[in-house]
Amino acid sequence: MSAERQGDAFENLLHEERRFPPSEEFAANAVAQPSLYDEAREQGTEFWARQARELLTWEKDFTQTLDWSDAPFAKWFVGGTVNAAYNALDRHVEAGLGDRVAIHFEGEPGDTRTITYAELTREVKQAANAFESLGVRKGDRVAVYLPMIPEAVVTMLACARIGAVHSVVFGGFSADALRSRIDDAEAKLVVTSDGTYRRGKPSALKPAVDGALEKEGHTVTSVVVVRRNNEPVEWTEGRDVWWHDAVAHASEEHTAVAHDAEHPLFILYTSGTTGKPKGILHTTGGYLTQTAFTHKNTFDLRPETDVFWCTADIGWVTGHSYVAYAPLVNGATQLMYEGTPDTPHQGRWWELIEKYKVSILYTAPTAIRTFMKWGRDIPKKYDLSSIRVLGSVGEPINPEAWMWYREVIGGGKAPVVDTWWQTETGAHMIAPMPGVTAAKPGSAQVAVPGIAVDVVDEMGESVPNGSGGYLVIREPWPAMLRGIWGDPQRFKDTYWSRFDAMYFAGDGAKKDDDGDIWLLGRVDDVMNISGHRLSTTEIESALVSHPSVAEAAVVGASDETTGQAVVAFVILRGSAKDDDDIVTTLRNHVGKEIGPIAKPRNILVVPELPKTRSGKIMRRLLKDVAEGREVGDATTLSDPTIMQQIAASLRK
Ligand code: WTA
Repeated sequence: MSAERQGDAFENLLHEERRFPPSEEFAANAVAQPSLYDEAREQGTEFWARQARELLTWEKDFTQTLDWSDAPFAKWFVGGTVNAAYNALDRHVEAGLGDRVAIHFEGEPGDTRTITYAELTREVKQAANAFESLGVRKGDRVAVYLPMIPEAVVTMLACARIGAVHSVVFGGFSADALRSRIDDAEAKLVVTSDGTYRRGKPSALKPAVDGALEKEGHTVTSVVVVRRNNEPVEWTEGRDVWWHDAVAHASEEHTAVAHDAEHPLFILYTSGTTGKPKGILHTTGGYLTQTAFTHKNTFDLRPETDVFWCTADIGWVTGHSYVAYAPLVNGATQLMYEGTPDTPHQGRWWELIEKYKVSILYTAPTAIRTFMKWGRDIPKKYDLSSIRVLGSVGEPINPEAWMWYREVIGGGKAPVVDTWWQTETGAHMIAPMPGVTAAKPGSAQVAVPGIAVDVVDEMGESVPNGSGGYLVIREPWPAMLRGIWGDPQRFKDTYWSRFDAMYFAGDGAKKDDDGDIWLLGRVDDVMNISGHRLSTTEIESALVSHPSVAEAAVVGASDETTGQAVVAFVILRGSAKDDDDIVTTLRNHVGKEIGPIAKPRNILVVPELPKTRSGKIMRRLLKDVAEGREVGDATTLSDPTIMQQIAASLRK
């Protein structure tokens, strides 16, 4: 978003004066009390040392809380050893909680599984044995291409148990995208399924894995396949093994060996400002500490009684931190749902909340806006009285959606917590505390205790209340990324070079008169479509890789439901100009190159692209066109008449 447009957006938000302090009862009994902020302020990094010891079971205690001597490469809890799977599973069973439900699974067709901590522990041990017998060792990478089924969590935890590094690739990514991620991480094993169910029909996954591995030159030696939808699959003998053969028959005994606190836990690829996705690297001790801490405090978690439901797919960081790890580390009961919200009917989510008595719901604004469109009569048909806390993540939540969420889903009383964070931050960084903060609709408000967030100007100076700028993080934090897989220089350049000694998040933000933070969206070439990060450059490269395209420019245009939508401007080569189906062809091409989620909403064929004299595409002007606004200042264009030519070509 341009600075000017961000300013407008903020002006609208400034008129937001509603305040929702916690009820007295909620505040009195809340997990997070105001003293948490005082302790964090007084104790510095020792605050995190205390959390690490309280929330996790360490095999060997750490001797140093933070080693920042090689900044920006942080080491947290130096000398400590810990096993993530042991913390998520075995220790709860040892504490006598084996019969507590870890996961209520509901498949899209309505099949269900109730998995206790004892059962989940057993299955993870079996998977760990199976993966080891396929040659997976500590430090090896495992690509995971699975739908939202319990085996996804089992796979991630089995990797963590062995010390293998998982790299989950969202099932909506194409074979090509999967291959580039497999290659970048040099994965040895791929875990996938025949497929899943989507909108009442079987939908395939295995063919994408087969496609990804078709060309020689990869590092994969085995593919483990979960049988989920029973559709026929192609089989490569010697490479492919069924989960029900490999895992179900494996031994149920497996001792978790503790790993160094800084042992890599996972890589998760995310879009950056250049074409190549970045493999964000997270390690063990700090990540588990901050995810568990925020899960407990931001959501006011009571593991004995709550039913937590995070609707994110495991292909995104939210599904890592708040499905696979934190809820289990905290010994909570959670719901996992495989399918879409409108199958078989638009009340499916509310039916699930009623059925499982979900008490904490964590979802994205784009989903909330979709439900608003469908109408409040649908959720009103269900008993949602179990809901106590509502979370939002992934993109700025507009005040109307926030209010609707609180009133219609939260019965006018459940606090809404808007959580700002990123794949890179690993865990919540800015979020109100439900029993402490007087909530403001549309604002994430305050830094999590122990986190140093600021808004700075171009020069890196902190801006006063009432002004906007760039969101930065001033101090290292436990769940911070430890780097970009295989590319330390890119890690420094991307996050640490814009401002001296500060992490630059890529987001614009403003402080209001109380000093509360309002997020205003990305200030770089990253788009946010339904809470999913996509890079303009990545989609541009996909478009120009098609023989009909001479040049392409992509912008994220605001969209009422999805937050932003992909709009592409393309210049076609010779004969393609007469092809009536070219737009469909190009949309499908992007789908094949990156995945269906990246398909542009609109592709506009234009004679020229607006460029500065130095050849840089002025996306700001294209965004004006895409959003139907009057085109802004075009005087720096190499040819100032280009915008008129574009406008004329679109009128045709
Ligand atoms: C955006 C998702 C406003 C932001 C956890 C960030 C948000 C990017 C919020 C990270 C929020 C996430 N309010 N914007 N509450 N949460 N964002 O890596 O632009 O998929 O930089 O992590 O999403 O997206 P990512």
